[in-house]
Amino acid sequence: MDLKKIDDAVMRRIQMMNERVNGLKEQDLYFYNQPMTELHGGAKVLTNGREMGMYASYGYLGLLGHPRIGAAAKAAIDRYGTGTHGVRTLAGTLKIHNELEETIADFKHAEAAITYSSGYATNLSVISTLMGRGDYVLSDKLNHASIVDGCLMSGAEFRRFRHNEMADLEKRLQQVPNGASKLVIADAVFSMDGDIIDLPGMVALCKKYNAWLMMDEAHSLGVLGKTGRGIEEYFDMEGSVDIKMGTLSKTIPSVGGYVAAKEEIITYLRHASRAYIFSAALPPAQTAAANEAFKVILDEPWRIEKLQANTDLFINGLKSSGFDTLLTETAIVPVLCGSDERAFAMTRECQHHDVFVLPVVSPAVPEGLSRLRATVTAAHEPEDIKYAMSVMEKAGQELGII
Ligand SMILES: Cc1ncc(COP(=O)(O)O)c(C=O)c1O
Repeated sequence: MDLKKIDDAVMRRIQMMNERVNGLKEQDLYFYNQPMTELHGGAKVLTNGREMGMYASYGYLGLLGHPRIGAAAKAAIDRYGTGTHGVRTLAGTLKIHNELEETIADFKHAEAAITYSSGYATNLSVISTLMGRGDYVLSDKLNHASIVDGCLMSGAEFRRFRHNEMADLEKRLQQVPNGASKLVIADAVFSMDGDIIDLPGMVALCKKYNAWLMMDEAHSLGVLGKTGRGIEEYFDMEGSVDIKMGTLSKTIPSVGGYVAAKEEIITYLRHASRAYIFSAALPPAQTAAANEAFKVILDEPWRIEKLQANTDLFINGLKSSGFDTLLTETAIVPVLCGSDERAFAMTRECQHHDVFVLPVVSPAVPEGLSRLRATVTAAHEPEDIKYAMSVMEKAGQELGII
């Protein structure tokens, strides 16, 4: 196909994106897929030949490079090799897959668990397997794209309620016809804003209107609750969530996604969800790494305490410099910049002073609310965080953000 000769809607979309990318590259404002050469345990990274403080990591407990987790992964490679040759159902299930699912079920205080090859695939497959035509899915407006895509794929009626507003959720629940099945779904910690869902309000409404409740714990696993078990532990509401979804790619330094739930639900998903049946099993090294990571979290509770102390230091410091950090209470700290251009410029200034942050711009967040999506982890030391904050303050002042 000669692209030069085509002038249709597809070609225009392709051209628009290419023009935007090229424009940003020309202005030295392009930070997409910036390659890292070394990760240095999560607190520092080597990029473009320079070591920078890492403030864009999802590895909230600093487990990347943990010796026990690395050793478990290496032992799994020695024993099984690097792949499984296929899907779980067709000779792809290893003993460590079952062990990992038992570990997750234990950690999440659930009867059983199932794993998938990514968090994205988990949401897509689980929501669309549970829900279908004639059912209703009610989803927080700021939910992650994988939830939105899972809802759309399900074919169910898709209703979005205002972010974390229980009155609006109730209004939407009242609009569902009698007898229709309902699933209410939200991020436990919102991936761009860092605020925490009102679980008590949501549980009360799900009980009142007889709705299923699903939580995406991508950013709450290892972060919320005294032992890092997540949103139920944080609110002391054990057993209140029906479908506890999470990823193995953030606090857990591996890859994959999971759902923990009642045994009957997991049995259903194991036999009906297409991403489980038709996609390859998790590789042995990643499975073993994830399994060990859950154990390390329980053995090293200081990490959760340190994460909380670092989070408080970071949020309070940025706020007192005058930054708007929205309603975050967690390690995800949005640093509002306004326009896309300001967020890009702020990123450039910070990186020039060896503070690695990344911008999040529209359409990932509403226009005018572009930001740095800055994060701290248990791997950071307070002195490093103070340096990063001083760089951000200076850049914010120079760019007129604060
Ligand atoms: C809230 C949320 N859910 C799901 C996902 C998808 O997880 P994964 O990256 O493991 O595919 C992410 C990842 O960014 C996320 O932030």
